[in-house]
Amino acid sequence: MAIALDDMKRQLIGERLADLLAFQKMILSNDQKLIDACPYNDIRDRLQNMLEDDRKNLGIIETVIVQYGIQSEPSPATSIFVENFEKMMSGDEFTYYQKLMHHELMKHGQAMSGINIHKAAQKVGADIEVAIGPLNTVNFEGRAHQEQLKGMLEQVGVREMTGMDADQGIWARVQDAVAALSGVAGSVLTQNTNKQDMNIQTLIRLDHNKVNTIFTEIGATKDPQKLQEYFGQLYKDILAHAKAEEEVVYPRIRSFYGDENTQELYDEQAEWRPMLEEIKAIDPATNADLFRSKIKDLMDHLGDHIRQEESTMFASIDKNCSTAEKEQMATQFKEVKRKVQQDMTAAVQ
Ligand SMILES: [Fe+2]
Ligand SMILES: [Fe+2]
Repeated sequence: MAIALDDMKRQLIGERLADLLAFQKMILSNDQKLIDACPYNDIRDRLQNMLEDDRKNLGIIETVIVQYGIQSEPSPATSIFVENFEKMMSGDEFTYYQKLMHHELMKHGQAMSGINIHKAAQKVGADIEVAIGPLNTVNFEGRAHQEQLKGMLEQVGVREMTGMDADQGIWARVQDAVAALSGVAGSVLTQNTNKQDMNIQTLIRLDHNKVNTIFTEIGATKDPQKLQEYFGQLYKDILAHAKAEEEVVYPRIRSFYGDENTQELYDEQAEWRPMLEEIKAIDPATNADLFRSKIKDLMDHLGDHIRQEESTMFASIDKNCSTAEKEQMATQFKEVKRKVQQDMTAAVQ
């Protein structure tokens, strides 16, 4: 029996991530609607800051999905919800306060969904935790936004009912609540704040770390079903990563990294697909020893290659490319991976 590459739990987490992305897009469009319709200058400024955070967080969610490696569609329920919510927020049946209140509920739901995905990842596999790590920033920032929105709601609610400002202590309380949250999340926020601007080396290193994590997971289990699940992820991750390097990175570095060095990287990667196909045809339930020895070969091949990329290739990129060029390569790298992942999803459906 050959290995099936798709695992239900992983597929489901992929769908939840797609939901999270759809909701984040809805939240962003909502931020803009609330800004456009806002009758109060102070509230508008606060919403504008929130919109900028939300835009950055959208980028982080997109990166996380590519790192995770499974492209999914949002669930039908999410699509129905988003459509209705957009309609409600565009209409004039609701007061400004009511719209803001529903927006706050959305932010709450979004933060909870992100936290639950994180907790599910801890259950399913260490490689998933590695892939979705940057989501922590989005989750904690969502919590901080909720505190700020509570303050805005209080202010807007009192103004709508009385035409007067609420007690001035509100913003100080909001600041305190946000500071308390940042205390909890401080390290996470400072580590990950600029993840959407990752350069190409960071992105490549994240992939390498994830692959190494999967090898460790494979080494640590005897359960054939788990082996199948981990190998399925490894197979997809390696092929997407190799393709993105071959389309975006290697052509770009050839002139300064050298013909011979660059060709070596291409040649090594060309050996991986047949190795992966060979392993895919082995059933770990009946042929565990062969499965492990082939995995060990693959790991050795990849190890040498990864060391070369992270030492001489990375140094060479640093010497010859500007920050903007490195970020641009990262964007293209993600795009190619996303495309490969979509094709793989389509191929099994
Ligand atoms: Fe490579
Ligand atoms: Fe690589």
